[in-house]
Amino acid sequence: MTAVEAIQAGQTDVVTQARRRRSFAVISHPDAGKSTLTEALALHARVISEAGAVHGKGGRRGVTSDWMEMEQARGISITSAALQFDYRDTVINLLDTPGHADFSEDTYRVLSAVDSAVMLLDAAKGLEPQTLKLFDVCRHRGIPVITFINKWDRPGREALDLCDELSERIGLQPMPLTWPVGVAGDFHGVADLTTGEFVRYLRTSGGATTAPEERYDASHAEAEGGEDWTRAKDESELLLASGGEFDLDRFAEASATPVLFGSAVSNFGVRHLLDLLTELAPRPAPRPDADGKARELDTPFSAFVFKVQTGMDPAHRDQLAFARVCSGQFERGMVVTNATTGKPFATKYAQQVFGQQRSTVDTAFPGDVVGLVNATSLRVGDTLYAGKPAVRFPGLPSFAPAHFAVAHPADLGRVKQFRKGVEQLGAEGVVQVLVSDRRGEAAPVFAAVGPMQFEVASHRLEHEFKSPVRLDRLSYNVVRRLADPTQRAIVNAGRRSEVLLRTDGTELALFAEDLDIRLMKRAHPELILEPLLAEGGSTAG
Ligand code: G4P
Repeated sequence: MTAVEAIQAGQTDVVTQARRRRSFAVISHPDAGKSTLTEALALHARVISEAGAVHGKGGRRGVTSDWMEMEQARGISITSAALQFDYRDTVINLLDTPGHADFSEDTYRVLSAVDSAVMLLDAAKGLEPQTLKLFDVCRHRGIPVITFINKWDRPGREALDLCDELSERIGLQPMPLTWPVGVAGDFHGVADLTTGEFVRYLRTSGGATTAPEERYDASHAEAEGGEDWTRAKDESELLLASGGEFDLDRFAEASATPVLFGSAVSNFGVRHLLDLLTELAPRPAPRPDADGKARELDTPFSAFVFKVQTGMDPAHRDQLAFARVCSGQFERGMVVTNATTGKPFATKYAQQVFGQQRSTVDTAFPGDVVGLVNATSLRVGDTLYAGKPAVRFPGLPSFAPAHFAVAHPADLGRVKQFRKGVEQLGAEGVVQVLVSDRRGEAAPVFAAVGPMQFEVASHRLEHEFKSPVRLDRLSYNVVRRLADPTQRAIVNAGRRSEVLLRTDGTELALFAEDLDIRLMKRAHPELILEPLLAEGGSTAG
C-alpha cells in the first residue's frame, strides 16, 4: 500500500505511519557512486522510469538553477533535499548530502535529521578520506550505519580485505548479509547469508531497468555457482565465525555495520539494500527536546529546520526551509509556532524537493521531510510545533571555522543588497557571519569550515543579489569560544588575535596559531577560552 493509499484508507494513525518510515542518508567519498545508487534505489521503487532523472548525470536531464551551474562545473553537490518513495509497505525518505568535504557542516545538519546512514564504498578504494570524516559524524551522533560496497562489477580489492578495513580503521564490526560470488570484476551474484541462497544477477542494458535475478536454494547453489560459490561460502564463514553474525542490537547502537556488496550502475544488490532498510533499519523514535525529555511520536506536530536554501528554482527566488517531522501529523495549511521567535508560521506551501523534482506535500508524519516555501523567517535549528505546550529541540551545533575573510561590497551602489545577501547566507549557514564593533557592520567577516564555502558565498552574492563581493583573507587559523565577554579587550589587544561575534551570539576568539593562545594564556592566566565543535564532530582541544 502506498502512503497515499494508506491515507485514503484512513490509516493515518501517527505511530503506525511513523513505524513505516525509514529516513536515511548516503554518505560517501565523491565518485563512489552516491548519485548512481540514489537513482538505482528510486528505480527499484519505480518512482522514476529511467535512471538519470534524479541528478541528471552525463547529459541526461539535469538541474539548471544558476548557482547549481557551479556545482556542475566543480562536480560537487551543495543542494540537498529529500527523495521520498514507497517500497513494499515502507515509506523511504532518502536525504541528500553534499559530497564535498568543505560542506561538512551542511552534511552534519542533514545527518541530524536521519535515523540511519548508508556508507557507500568503492570496492577498489575502500575507506577514503571523506568517508572517514562522514563516518566520524555518524559515530558522534550514534547513527547506525549500513555499508554498501559498490562497483563490484569491476576489478577491486578482496571482500575480506575490505571488511577487515572496517574493523581495523574505524572499529566497526562488519556483519555481512550478502557475500559476492566471483571476485571484483567477475561478479556473478551474491550469497544471501540470511537465506543461504545464491542470487545470480542478470545483465541489464545500462542499468535503465531493475536487474532481473535468478535464485537458487542452498542445495542447487554449488552446482550453479561452482568454485566461486564455494569460495564465497568459505570467506563469509570466516568472517561470521569472528564476530560477524548479524546482531540487531549492535547495529542499532552503531558498534557494528551490516555489509552488502553490489554494483549500483548495474542495479545489482540494490534490492537487498532496500530490503535491509525496510526490515532492519531504525524507525523514527521519540526525539529528546532541549531539556532531554522525549517528545513522543503521537504528541501534536513538531519538527526542526535542518536546512534553509534560497533560489533552488531560478524562476522564483523563493526560500525553502527543510524541516524533519519529529512528532504528530503535518497537514499543509496548518499554522504552527516557531519556538525561537514565538511567532506563528503558516504552512500554506509545502513541498517535497529532490534535484529538479518538486511536488506538493499535503500530509507528513514523523521521519518525513517537509520543504516549507516562503520561509523567510525560519533559520537552521528552529523548532516548529503545533498546539501546547511549547517544545524546543536542541539547536544544531556550528563547527569551528578554519578559514576567515573580510567581505567588502565591490559595488558601493549595491550596499543594501549586499547586506541582505550576507544576512541570507548567514541564515542558510552557507558561511558563518561574524561582526565586531571594531570592524563595523559594513565589513563582516565570513568564516568557513572549507574554502569552497567562500566560492559559493561570492557566487551567490554576485548572481543572486547582484552585489559582487571582494574577499580579503585573514591569517587566522585557530578559533576558541570566549566564555567571558568582559575579557574581550585582552584578546583584542593581541597582535595576532581578535574577537568577533557570530550571529548565534557566540563570541569567537580568533588566533593566528596555537602559539598565540599559549602566549596569551601565560600573560593572562584568568583568560577562559573554550573549544568549539570541530569538523567531524569532536571538540577542538
Ligand atoms: P558520486 O555521486 O558519489 O560522486 O558518484 P557518481 O554516482 O556520480 O558515480 C561516479 C562514477 O562512478 C560515474 O562514472 C558512475 O557511472 C560510476 N559508477 C557508479 N556506480 C558504479 C558501479 O557500480 N560500477 C561501475 N563500474 N561504475 C560505477 P562517470 O564515468 O564519472 O560518469 P557517467 O558518465 O558514467 O555517469
